[in-house]
Amino acid sequence: MPVGTLYGISVGPGDPELLTLKGLRLLKQAPVVAFPAGVGGQPGIAQQIIAKWLRQEQIQLPLTFPYVQDDHLLMQAWKAAAGQVWHYLSQGTDVAFACEGDVGFYSTFTYLAQTLQHLHPSVEIQIVPGVSSPLAAAAVLGLPLTLRHQRLVILPALYTATDLENVLGWAEVLVLLKVNSVYKQVWEILHRLQLLERSFIVERATQAGQVIHHNLVEKPNLDLPYFSLLIVQAEKPIR
Ligand SMILES: C[S@@+](CC[C@H](N)C(=O)[O-])C[C@H]1O[C@@H](n2cnc3c(N)ncnc32)[C@H](O)[C@@H]1O
Repeated sequence: MPVGTLYGISVGPGDPELLTLKGLRLLKQAPVVAFPAGVGGQPGIAQQIIAKWLRQEQIQLPLTFPYVQDDHLLMQAWKAAAGQVWHYLSQGTDVAFACEGDVGFYSTFTYLAQTLQHLHPSVEIQIVPGVSSPLAAAAVLGLPLTLRHQRLVILPALYTATDLENVLGWAEVLVLLKVNSVYKQVWEILHRLQLLERSFIVERATQAGQVIHHNLVEKPNLDLPYFSLLIVQAEKPIR
């Protein structure tokens, strides 16, 4: 029996209308729709985004991906999730995995897909790109993310103060993801480099509860949610 296809569907940053037409079509067609399980019994963000598009007869498959750094625990979780998805694929049933933002941009989907490919090399995977958070945040700020020849750097959470200063000596536009856990240190560095007036934060871009912070000079102590990012638009590299 031919195996089913796993579709990695980018569902965008929050507003359900930011799902692509192709993503929506494949999501509606799939007999099984998987997504990262929420924490504390709450629906996860991808699940919330797609909720209005799902049909009752579709099987919903929440998959658990723990927020830990331990490689062994992560591997176990990816294998368990791959097993749950393979259960359907091996019977010839397609599975659509919904992922917040874009599936290829710092996304859980990649680990699931790689684990599946490793365990079952015959598996067929198709990816549907989508709107990722830096572009959504720039749009809600009413700014272009980049212009002309500006150099753009995007850093995930695990950067050091030195990384940040080096990058700011080189790039004109900087995006910091997962800034909530390191905001205080970032604020100090931007303050020292006199960049706070050229920095913006968007909390929950395009989601209910979206908040925008312009000019961070007066805001050294923001309590930010996980879905927050910071954009620095330095006119030119600092050095
Ligand atoms: C693991 S990354 C996932 C990125 C996602 N795949 C994307 O394409 O945007 C999670 C980080 O992305 C950023 N992020 C994702 N969605 C966001 C949103 N709607 N508003 C603000 N930041 C967001 C936050 O910095 C968050 O900590």
